This record gives sequence, C-alpha cells and structure tokens, in this order.
Amino acid sequence: MNVIETKNLTKKFERLVAVNRLNLKIEEGEIFGLLGPNGAGKTTTLSMLATLIPPTEGSARVNGFDVKSEASQVRHSIGFVFQDPSSDDMLTGRENLYLHALMYGVDMRQINKKMDEVLRLVDLTSRQHERMKRYSGGMRRRLELARGLLHEPKVLFLDEPTLGLDPQTREHLWGYIKKLSTEKRITIIITTHYMEEADKLCNRLAIIDHGKVVALDTPANLKKVLGGDVVRLKIAKPNIAAIKKLKYVKKIKQMDRFLVLTVNDAGKHLQEMLMRVGEVKSVESHSPTLNDVFLHYTGSEIRSEEGEGGYFARFMHSGNR
Ligand SMILES: Nc1ncnc2c1ncn2[C@@H]1O[C@H](COP(=O)(O)OP(=O)(O)OP(=O)(O)O)[C@@H](O)[C@H]1O
Ligand SMILES: [Mg+2]
Repeated sequence: MNVIETKNLTKKFERLVAVNRLNLKIEEGEIFGLLGPNGAGKTTTLSMLATLIPPTEGSARVNGFDVKSEASQVRHSIGFVFQDPSSDDMLTGRENLYLHALMYGVDMRQINKKMDEVLRLVDLTSRQHERMKRYSGGMRRRLELARGLLHEPKVLFLDEPTLGLDPQTREHLWGYIKKLSTEKRITIIITTHYMEEADKLCNRLAIIDHGKVVALDTPANLKKVLGGDVVRLKIAKPNIAAIKKLKYVKKIKQMDRFLVLTVNDAGKHLQEMLMRVGEVKSVESHSPTLNDVFLHYTGSEIRSEEGEGGYFARFMHSGNR
C-alpha cells in the first residue's frame, strides 16, 4: 500500500515555483530520502505533506487521507521533526513532551509510560527535568525526535534530523530510525545533506532540484548510473584532447578547479592515464559514492546562495568519502 502518494503536487510562492508537479509513491515501512541542494523544495514538500502549508496545485494523500480536505486526520497520523525546533525553552524536556502529548490526544493512562519510553530511546532520561534552554543543540534535536514519536505516528517526517549532531549521536539515531521502520513499520521520509546518512538509511531516494525529481531509485542503483569509477584530478593545464582519446574515460566534467572523470576500471588504467593528461598536481580515485551521484544530477555550478566554495567545498570537508 502507498502510504504517501502525490499527484502533480505544486507549491508556488508568488512567481517562484518551489515544488513543481511532484509525483511520488512511497510504500509502508520505507525509509525514503529527499536529497537536493539548498532551496530545492524539500522542506516545502514535507510541509505540504504534513498539512502545514496548502499546495497551490495538485494533490497528496497521506495514510489514505487527502492533505487538503482531510488535514486533521492526516495530522493525527503523522509525526514530524522540522528544521526549526519548536519546543519551549522555558519548559523542561519532559514538560515539552507532556504538552505535545496533550495536544495530540495521547491516552492519559499511557502518557507517562510513553514519555519514559521515548526519553530512553533518545538518551535523555537523566536530563529530562532540566529546562530546554540549558540543552545543547544535539540534545534539542533528540528531544524533537522524541516528541515526534510520542503519539506513535504511522508516518514520520524528518527534516535534516541529524544536522549538527556529533558523529556518535548521529549513528545512534540512525540505528533508532532503522528500528522504527523495521519493528514498528513506521514509514519515514527524511531530508538530509549528509550523503552517508542517505546511503546507510534509505531504501529509496529522490534527488530533487528546482522543485522537480531528477532521479529516483535505491542508493545502489543510483550509484550504478555513473557507470565507472570516479577520478578527480587537479591539473595545471589539462590536455583535454588527449583525455578524450582515452577509451576508458567515459565522462569528463570540470568542477571548480578539478577535472572529474568517470573511468572504467580506474585501478587498471590510472598509471597510464596520469602520463597523458597533463601535469597532475593531485589525484583521487574511488568507486562512485552518493556524493558523486548528487553532483552528477544537480550540476556543479555554485548556487548564488551557497557563497564561496559551494557544495563542492562542503562535500570535500564533509568526510563522507
Ligand atoms: N514561505 C515562503 N515564502 C516564499 N518563499 C519560500 C517560502 N518558503 C520557502 N520558499 C522558497 O522556496 C524554495 C524552496 O525552499 P525549501 O525550504 O523547500 O528548500 P529546501 O530544499 O528545504 O532547502 P534547504 O536544503 O536549504 O533546507 C526556496 O527558494 C525558498 O526560498
Ligand atoms: Mg529545508
């Protein structure tokens, strides 16, 4: 059964088309990832599915309910953890959970047990009675996640849930998110800029850019699309004509100050290749990662809102390779 189905789902903000005729089908129990550059339309998509903003055109069903005409049923069957935390700083962690449980009509006899359970899951039992203003960024994210789970939603929307978390906490949350999907059959829609996270967690991924799906498949299949190893070269004066003649080089792309080649069996050809391409200052070769897939589909140009260095620099520093 499709837990989420969108038909030409569209959101316009005046002249800007943030989400452009999106068609998605997501099955029960999937962990489905939305990847895309800043401003691609990920949060807007989740906001429409969670009934926080209405679509301009098209439609969407969540758990069988229509987001426009059955918004309240949709809301009761979903949980979400959004980019901007919405908990109250003056309340303790536990009080925030309690408020949320009341708002969502969690059975009064169950509230305490549920709160204990979700606090334990996100390792906040010992800090639950402190005011949230004393929480660190990571603790806030964890409490937000606990809050999203309190009323046992069938679908959980996670908008960059591990942003700013330390690697250990992030891995911990991955394990937990996986468990939610396998044991409780909760369907999870997650956005992230961490490619490793998408790779490890998601059954399927949609890469979106300018509000449109540009690729959709399992992480393994998406990586196959590149059709070879990735060789990244820094060359003073690249001899493009010579590179084009090499049969095992399937694609050549200029990205920033680098040449990025897709190469058949790079291990075998690397040495010969390096002698022909120009004065090589640095070289790096690897099997395709989701980073490469992402760059392949979303292009290499630096978006105006990205500032200096852009995606490429960010990925180089992300340690995801
Ligand atoms: N309330 C709004 N009014 C006007 N424009 C908006 C509004 N919300 C979003 N937008 C615009 O819609 C586009 C998509 O934004 P959205 O927040 O969905 O991107 P995103 O993919 O979540 O990006 P990020 O990775 O930075 O979180 C952007 O150009 C953004 O500026
Ligand atoms: Mg966003």
